[in-house]
Amino acid sequence: MAILKIARMGHPVLIQRCDPVADPGAPEIRRLVADMMETMEDAPGVGLAAPQVHTPLRLFVFRIPGERSGADPDDVAVGNSVLINPELELLSAERVLSWEGCLSIPGLRAAVPRAPRVRYRGMDCDGNVVTREVSGFHACVVQHEYDHLDGILYPMRMTDFRLFGFNEELNRLSVAQR
Ligand code: NI
Repeated sequence: MAILKIARMGHPVLIQRCDPVADPGAPEIRRLVADMMETMEDAPGVGLAAPQVHTPLRLFVFRIPGERSGADPDDVAVGNSVLINPELELLSAERVLSWEGCLSIPGLRAAVPRAPRVRYRGMDCDGNVVTREVSGFHACVVQHEYDHLDGILYPMRMTDFRLFGFNEELNRLSVAQR
């Protein structure tokens, strides 16, 4: 396994639409996923999409740590997971503000409008179809990572730029979680 170099905002790989994975069971995809999980844990982060490691393919890894999950039974802790060629459906027109950071935009975070509940479907490396309906933090993580596959970074989703800042400043003011 290996820790991969993470592309930072400004790199063109982050703003392109990614290509579907032709063979989710291919050994090179399994290796990429294992390296992405190691890179995500090392960072540390809760999600990492393939374009962030300079690979414009439609897959991402994520995890929902127990301390970040909510009271909702559809927002429980989840270990390292992968979604290959995912589909995402927002289950509500409602939007809630989600405080987010991104490993490609180090040191910053912002409040981003997200759907509170989503349904997703994708494949794992063994060719199993994964389908889930989730809410809360889990739903926001998946929306953030899915956006990466379409070349969308979280600032492109923001509606209130007053809620955007450096972690150091926001922590000092104890504004917002994360
Ligand atoms: Ni990100």
